Amino acid sequence: MSTTVALIGAAGHGAWHLRAIDALGERVRLVATCDVQPGYDYTDHRRMLEERKPDVVVVCTPPHTHLPIALDVLGAGADLLLEKPPVLSLADHRRLAEASRGRVLQIGFQALGSPTLPLLAERVGEVTSASVAGAWWRPDSYWTRSSWAGRRGRDGALVNPFAHALMQALAITGIRPPWTLSLDRYRTRPAVEVEDTATLRLTAPDGRAVFVAVTLCSAEFVPGDITVVGREGTAEVGYAQDRLDGEVVPGRTGLLENLLDHRDRDVPLLVPLERTEPFTALAEAILAAGEPVLLDPARLARREDGVEIPGAAAIVRRAAAERAHFREIGVLP
Ligand SMILES: NC(=O)c1ccc[n+]([C@@H]2O[C@H](COP(=O)([O-])OP(=O)(O)OC[C@H]3O[C@@H](n4cnc5c(N)ncnc54)[C@H](O)[C@@H]3O)[C@@H](O)[C@H]2O)c1
Repeated sequence: MSTTVALIGAAGHGAWHLRAIDALGERVRLVATCDVQPGYDYTDHRRMLEERKPDVVVVCTPPHTHLPIALDVLGAGADLLLEKPPVLSLADHRRLAEASRGRVLQIGFQALGSPTLPLLAERVGEVTSASVAGAWWRPDSYWTRSSWAGRRGRDGALVNPFAHALMQALAITGIRPPWTLSLDRYRTRPAVEVEDTATLRLTAPDGRAVFVAVTLCSAEFVPGDITVVGREGTAEVGYAQDRLDGEVVPGRTGLLENLLDHRDRDVPLLVPLERTEPFTALAEAILAAGEPVLLDPARLARREDGVEIPGAAAIVRRAAAERAHFREIGVLP
């Protein structure tokens, strides 16, 4: 018998989930879509839960709406695939953990379904550090696409577009709090309150470290690959395409499929809420870190559709290689 599934938050990234549901064929039956925008089966998720009683619900609404909707879904007795970031504070994490007892809860960090992860120990031995270099381009329209985009406490290059890179680096190193965190955050647009360019350094008491250097203002694309250093070697992980040292490793497990396998056959869940706790601890600290430095327009190149930091790809690569903040190597103030 197929499992019944509903989707809450269907109009944005939810379209990707609709395709993933479709790809599972007869194993699942989509019984309802819900969005506050018109054009879907429901605009009120509570009504949908009451009338359709789905077995599993995918929630793909803005991050700050996750907790109340997730609580409603779990309270209605459904299992849940909740988009990343699950919640934005440890207090909310604890509430969600409490509410999910006895239910299945998977978090949408899909790169944790990557087949590269189990191969890493063999390749590098015990991991001592992971370093991310990512330089992407996001036009001005990216920051106005939805009401939470660019808003303090809700968004930012580290917690949103580069969330997968961050989560992957945390999972690869196994670092959890307590840790020492230092941040260097910048923004290029006065109207955008959050960072579009940043470095982050995390050090655990035993010396394991995560370093992240990213920007959304780069003409040249650097994918956000992770350099992993272990006691017996190093490896380059491309988390988006499951590349390990340049080669694609086939066989990524989809998170909805894994959730169904867990329900049906007790296969271990790939991304239980608990696995994401370090990410939420980090997100809470980043979101509370105050205003990023507003870069002087004289340092920037204005393009028709956005703002570029000249040489951004090179400075991101250098910061990641040296594991040094932009300010430490003197490339940004
Ligand atoms: N895993 C990934 O790779 C990935 C990629 C993109 C986005 N996301 C995540 O997906 C989520 C949605 O992102 P988005 O860019 O689509 O955001 P969005 O702002 O476009 O919102 C998604 C949809 O949710 C709807 N919505 C808002 N409140 C609702 C409610 N109470 N009930 C029903 N629908 C509601 C909105 O109308 C919108 O259509 C976020 O958590 C984001 O971080 C994940």
